[in-house]
Amino acid sequence: MPAVMEKAEKKQKKSSVAPGATTQIIDRMYPNRVALSDDIKKQVCAVMQQPLAEGLDLYSQAKFAHWNVKGDNFYQLHLVFDHVAKVIFKQVDPIAERITQLGGVANGTVRQSACSSTISEYPVETINGMDHVRALADSLAHYCQNLRESSDKVDDIGDKPTSDFFNQLIVDAEEQLYFLESHLEAGDVQ
Ligand SMILES: [Fe+2]
Repeated sequence: MPAVMEKAEKKQKKSSVAPGATTQIIDRMYPNRVALSDDIKKQVCAVMQQPLAEGLDLYSQAKFAHWNVKGDNFYQLHLVFDHVAKVIFKQVDPIAERITQLGGVANGTVRQSACSSTISEYPVETINGMDHVRALADSLAHYCQNLRESSDKVDDIGDKPTSDFFNQLIVDAEEQLYFLESHLEAGDVQ
């Protein structure tokens, strides 16, 4: 086989590898002077990987809604969904950097996030505004619940400042949940 064709075939094979098939989550820890035991730092970093992954997943879901919503109230919902995306994206960087401050590795590529997130798959066939509001509210509620659980977990592990850090994120994330749920009929809200 001519070398050019061989190269093209190799490239084709490489690109047909399933996305995420080689994705790794790194749990390496770097020593530092933060006044917590190595064991506590490791446990706290492990807890924080989940909200990091879910923040990135949720951000992309909010952007999906922002880009693809149609119908009545298009423009208003287009802006609301973008606002959710902005608020959540603003939380991702500090979560990632809190992990690295404690000596961990922030596993925050899109593929790592897709592997680790437990947020439900976004219903990508959704078209109408209120259906997007409901779908995004479900995902955002899951993210908010995970922030609360993470706050409790790191408090139990023995890192109160990181628990307080999560508490600040919860207030902003739950404000976005309130904005979404306020678009729904009262009967949609439990
Ligand atoms: Fe936009």
